Amino acid sequence: MDKAQKVQGGIFIVFEGIDGSGKSTQSKMLKKHLEKKSYKTFLTQEPSNSAIGKLIKKSINSGKKNISNEAIALLFAADRAEHIKKIKRELEKGKSVICDRYYYSSLAYQGASGLSLNWLMEINKFAIKPSIAFYLDIAPEKALERIKKRKTKSYFEKLAFLSNVRKIYKQLCKEYEELFEIDASKGREEVHREIVKILKSQLSI
Ligand code: TYD
Repeated sequence: MDKAQKVQGGIFIVFEGIDGSGKSTQSKMLKKHLEKKSYKTFLTQEPSNSAIGKLIKKSINSGKKNISNEAIALLFAADRAEHIKKIKRELEKGKSVICDRYYYSSLAYQGASGLSLNWLMEINKFAIKPSIAFYLDIAPEKALERIKKRKTKSYFEKLAFLSNVRKIYKQLCKEYEELFEIDASKGREEVHREIVKILKSQLSI
């Protein structure tokens, strides 16, 4: 990837990982870091806050699975199609966009649900490629231990399922040049330093 590769005028950074890998913490730490360096930054996440995103959250946090794998995959893609319009607007303003989960989540999670990766790629074809993406790798046992106190739990948060999600993420890191694997079992400061180091070497920021 070229140095300082911009997408529609701004830098587009994605965080990925299983639930409890520390994506949200790292997204916020990176936002602070970039703002200190005078980058205007927009922090966002998927599922988004749109009506479709809310429908998804209601469905996956309801405690039991009441929707087919295909339907939820299409909802995530529909939410993303809407969300990308907003991301593009921010990038066009020259802002850096940090997105907590993106396209790779659909491949890893819906792929682990048994759907074909080719079909998932097809329904997400419109997704713009980020400048860089970080996959925060952690053992599902450790991740579940970290999040056991959380009140809202999606039906994805089960050990065997997350082990499959992890396998697919690791495979994606080999296939997508923009996706970097980070050891997220370390402390938050150490993980943050590693992310900053890679950003410097890959994008010169
Ligand atoms: P998230 O909001 O990150 O969970 P939480 O609020 O509990 O931290 O994501 C909700 C769940 O949706 C998470 O278990 C991952 C899953 N997901 C998919 O299965 N496919 C997708 O495309 C996305 C974006 C998320």
